[in-house]
Amino acid sequence: MNTARLTELILNLGQVIEQNRDYLTDLDRAIGDADHGINMTKGFRAVADKLQAVAPADPAAAMKTVGMTLISTVGGASGPLYGTAFLRAAAAVAGKADLGRDDLLTVVEAALGGIKERGKAELGDKTIVDALQPAAEAIRTGLQSGAPTAEVARRAAAAARKGAEGTKEYAARKGRASYLGERSIGHQDPGATSTTLMLEALASFLEG
Ligand SMILES: Nc1ncnc2c1ncn2[C@@H]1O[C@H](COP(=O)(O)OP(=O)(O)O)[C@@H](O)[C@H]1O
Ligand SMILES: [Mg+2]
Repeated sequence: MNTARLTELILNLGQVIEQNRDYLTDLDRAIGDADHGINMTKGFRAVADKLQAVAPADPAAAMKTVGMTLISTVGGASGPLYGTAFLRAAAAVAGKADLGRDDLLTVVEAALGGIKERGKAELGDKTIVDALQPAAEAIRTGLQSGAPTAEVARRAAAAARKGAEGTKEYAARKGRASYLGERSIGHQDPGATSTTLMLEALASFLEG
């Protein structure tokens, strides 16, 4: 995947987030402060403006722009978390002109590492990690199995969706929703859901 196609993918992620703005905000209304879809839409609109104003030099530069823009424009916890994820992903592929099959794992694992380090959440805390970690595992297994990259991405998206839906079963231990304690049970985590939507968009993009 070259820089132009990655840029197209990032713009696509932003569109999918925007299409799901109200859904993500409604999820956050139940266990947070009803702004996750608004935050993410605002962030990705700023990203689109930047990427369209100045074409990034390479894939790492494109992801660095995403990371820095999300950190500087998103007020909620998700901004610095997703921002760190994209900055780490960028650093992991620094200097490459093209991203290949194995870079999918490199990028997703770097993103996951950044989120876990920044947010201190582990699997089962009802956060982004509950979607992204199973996705990273599915990518590792899928690549080893020799499946085509698009199919690997589709499996990762399915693993993320399962993880996100699974967050309904338990209470939040990190972020705003953790203030609700047991009352957060029964509700799906907004951040795990936005992660799932982005991975589904990635899979569709690679299939298309
Ligand atoms: N420490 C954390 N680690 C990982 N993800 C987190 C953490 N804290 C919050 N989140 C994610 O952020 C989402 C909320 O994002 P958002 O509503 O945009 O920010 P805020 O909670 O500040 O309003 C949660 O649904 C959760 O997935
Ligand atoms: Mg919120």
